[in-house]
Amino acid sequence: MGTIYHRGKRGRRATSWPETVRPPEELLAYIPEEARRKGLPWLPEVSQVELVRHYTALSRMNYGVDTGFYPLGSCTMKYNPKLHEELARHPGFADLHPLFPEEAVQGILELLWRLGALLKGIAGMPGITLQPAAGAHGELTGMLLIKRYFEARGELERRKVILLPDSAHGTNPASAAMAGFKVVPIPSNEHGTVDLRALEERLSEEVAGIMLTVPNTLGIFERDILRITEMVHEVGGLCYFDGANLNAFLGRARPGDMGADIFHFNLHKTFSTPHGGGGPGAGPLAVSEPLLPYLPVPRIVKEGDRFRLAYDLPESIGRVHPFFGNVLVMMKALAYILTLGDEGLREVSAGAVLAANYLRVRLRDVYAVPYDGLCKHEFVASTANLGVKARDVAKRLIDYGFHPPTVYFPLIVEEALMVEPTETEPLETLDAFVEAMRRIAAEARENPALLAEAPHKAPVRRLDEVKAAREPVLRENPPVSPG
Ligand SMILES: Cc1ncc(COP(=O)(O)O)c(C=O)c1O
Repeated sequence: MGTIYHRGKRGRRATSWPETVRPPEELLAYIPEEARRKGLPWLPEVSQVELVRHYTALSRMNYGVDTGFYPLGSCTMKYNPKLHEELARHPGFADLHPLFPEEAVQGILELLWRLGALLKGIAGMPGITLQPAAGAHGELTGMLLIKRYFEARGELERRKVILLPDSAHGTNPASAAMAGFKVVPIPSNEHGTVDLRALEERLSEEVAGIMLTVPNTLGIFERDILRITEMVHEVGGLCYFDGANLNAFLGRARPGDMGADIFHFNLHKTFSTPHGGGGPGAGPLAVSEPLLPYLPVPRIVKEGDRFRLAYDLPESIGRVHPFFGNVLVMMKALAYILTLGDEGLREVSAGAVLAANYLRVRLRDVYAVPYDGLCKHEFVASTANLGVKARDVAKRLIDYGFHPPTVYFPLIVEEALMVEPTETEPLETLDAFVEAMRRIAAEARENPALLAEAPHKAPVRRLDEVKAAREPVLRENPPVSPG
């Protein structure tokens, strides 16, 4: 399919415009000569029906949660209720200007404050900031809080190390390193959890903290979590929990009760905003008592029945986001929490864990599952036992009408397929996915070339992914000049 420039004819219009008026000379004088256009712009010249058909055809080539199953591990592409989109788009929220005076925006301040209170309750922790715009941003903010904490105690010079299990999400080491910490890995044991002996060996007074992805990227919950946080606290370190996978234990366990000092939410995974696609997200942080003074500004403070933005907090790490964060994403999260209620939130985690275990058990006789056992919201299979690449299985799934799972992550599993079905899929969809995966496993044995050349039915075939990433062509020159 060509671009819009491949359609239409000279002189065609999708709509009518008033007669063009040349800007008066005196206005042109404000535009430097070299910045002035020399000729007419090359614009597509199409009728309205051509325009509509072009973009409708493009949209039909897209794949999304609204069109099909999207089991992308770690990226939680679950279906989100349309009601919450509708609510967030309400002009009362969408048309607010961040520079409105506090007295004029008491309503939204109250809602943000209430969301903060609910998230603190879910985390079981006393402090919150809603500002970070994404999970990784929350991580960086958390690392800055840890730095400020040790700076205030005069220990920053020596507390240089962040411990990181090799099953952590990829953004964790990047965030710790960006904040200036030295990242020291901890290997996983045969169960896919933190090796306590290895942790013990790495603990010292140089340790600023540990970053744990909970549950980890194998979809496994750290059984020894209480012991781990205790060990880190014993040497004076802090415990950061990456809570992007919260749909695995939402409403059932609280990080504050497990010894977390900092916990980040991915509102755009757990609470009604789609993950991915480059859209806005929100990565609020809940913190323990000792970190309260360092939270970013502004903070929403309740005084009687009024709400105020507090900036004058000298120990704060300062601002991490312009204005108040991605407020509309927060409104969706608030709507989600309030509409589901306690029982509904618990059902979310029950559904996510049940679906992941259902798929794991129904696929493990054909695909290797190196860390087999009860998983949480996702599990990691491997195609190594079939002698084919994870990439080839993923591409073949497209022919069966499914979005592939995450591939080659986590790094500790060879030819990894990381499957996260989420809590929103009906049983028939899960069964159809199992059926497709089992057929692909049979094809891998009988006709591996079929997989190596897949996809066969997609609008585009196998792409050169390295070239696409390293030398992206982001602009196409129009094929014809309008003259
Ligand atoms: C476990 C985990 N941690 C952190 C992140 C990073 O979140 P973000 O993409 O919002 O930066 C993700 C993203 O999916 C994740 O799955």
